[in-house]
Amino acid sequence: MTITPWWRDAVVYQIYPRSFADSDGDGIGDLAGITARLSYLAELGVDAVWLSPFYTSPQRDGGYDVADHRAVDPSYGDLLAFDVMLEQAHDLGLRVIVDIVPNHSSDEHTWFRDALAASPGSPERARYVFRDGRGDNGVIPPNNWESWFGGPAWTRITEPDGSPGQWYLHLFDTSQPDFDWTNPEVREEMESVLRFWLDREVDGFRIDVAHGLVKADGLPDADLPYDQTRDITASQPMWDQPGVHEIYRSWRQLVDSYAVRGEDRDRLLCAEAWVEPPEALARYVRRDELHQSFNFHFLMTPWNAEALRHSVSESLAQAESVGAPQTWVLSNHDVMRHASRLGRRDATVRVNTDGVGPDDEQPDAELGLRRARAATAVMLALPGSAYLYQGEELGLPDAVVPDEAIRDPTWERSGRSVRGRDGCRVPIPWERGAPSYGFGPGSSAWLPQPPSYSALAVDQQRTVTGSTLDFYKTLLSLRRELRLGVSTLAWTDGYPDDVIAFTVGPVAVLANLGAVPLPLADGSTVLASSQPRAVGAPIASDETVWLKV
Ligand code: NOJ
Repeated sequence: MTITPWWRDAVVYQIYPRSFADSDGDGIGDLAGITARLSYLAELGVDAVWLSPFYTSPQRDGGYDVADHRAVDPSYGDLLAFDVMLEQAHDLGLRVIVDIVPNHSSDEHTWFRDALAASPGSPERARYVFRDGRGDNGVIPPNNWESWFGGPAWTRITEPDGSPGQWYLHLFDTSQPDFDWTNPEVREEMESVLRFWLDREVDGFRIDVAHGLVKADGLPDADLPYDQTRDITASQPMWDQPGVHEIYRSWRQLVDSYAVRGEDRDRLLCAEAWVEPPEALARYVRRDELHQSFNFHFLMTPWNAEALRHSVSESLAQAESVGAPQTWVLSNHDVMRHASRLGRRDATVRVNTDGVGPDDEQPDAELGLRRARAATAVMLALPGSAYLYQGEELGLPDAVVPDEAIRDPTWERSGRSVRGRDGCRVPIPWERGAPSYGFGPGSSAWLPQPPSYSALAVDQQRTVTGSTLDFYKTLLSLRRELRLGVSTLAWTDGYPDDVIAFTVGPVAVLANLGAVPLPLADGSTVLASSQPRAVGAPIASDETVWLKV
């Protein structure tokens, strides 16, 4: 009998460790906090968790600035705490995926410190992208690239002898120098990091900035400014260069060497690759490359039936063209939560830069949540694998983070004009009446939690029929039981244009994005609905129902 590998239809829950659960009261989430809450996730009904970085880091970019890829940051615990968490997750039937950040390190990484102490042209410098500047005395950066967080992508160093020195490349914060992937030593090091975590029995990796590792030869100027709403990577010399695929072919061989014959224990590789067009994304999941890549096209699709139908069809066709399962995602730690995004008048998604300030127009919370639930009910019916972001099962909106509390480097790098992503990273409310809403035993959390989170706390929803948490559990259990993730989708004709209608396995999905209620056919059996409903009631505006076929 052939096994359908677990990752083809897995629902993966993203944990942002800093904000999930704090066991020791320092206001920062940690591994022991995660361990204590694993049973909540098993009960929710997900198949796997993905942990954003918990490695040693000065936390200039929420841990995506890694100082030691093989060690746990003391604020999160230690390797023993990791092993305990992993073992307990496995005992509960949950797989664990960790983040690997191969494009850059922290400037506190030993390699970067060694590079600063060494001279131009040394093997230590060759691990990163150091170049001489242009113009008189090299005062102009080597090219015009901009950092994703704002400002130039180059920073000039002072040489050990005190003279003005070379420049180093950082596509993100100044504290995140890019590795030079043309250097075999970098490749060997990252493969060794993969093995380190595979040997500890992790079930896979989410690959940070998977499209950025290789830069165009000669580092030519880019077309500026970047458009952060669409086509963000098309034909830019730092993104999606052909050379990345060879790296992933070798990574695939590496993880495949850990497979156990006859056992469903594949180790997963999932790319974070913001690339355009969709065919470019499909290249990352060819049979000998990665297993999955995040479907950001779906996440970026506006709340519009025609656009969503097109996005789903195109996504499925692209994935099928290379034999990969499609993935679906609506929220993560880099974008405004979908409960807020879909409640905004302008629902455009800006990558890495969204954030609502106290003086900005506020999203309509009720409409946002209603649409978010309807969108989730579409997503969790789709064939393939789905990614959930912590707190979306509670219907959490983005929080308004006051200026003085903002930690996202985007804020300072943009001259305090772009708030960044802290709004979706605010710690999870577990108990209404407890300090920090039960996030931890301390009185506060590293980002302030808004009062609106108290009524959404886990203990307020856990036993309430029709709560968002209950709704997610229902969808996840039906999805698993009816094997929707490995079923085939067929569009259903005959509905108004603003209705999304399809069948998947034994389920008919109807999402009404129009203003006019849609009558339910006589004798319909409702399996799940995104809103509480009276028997036989029409499908309201911004409501999704799952019916028995
Ligand atoms: C993508 C990560 O998701 C984001 O949070 C981070 O800032 C950048 N990569 C840089 O590592």
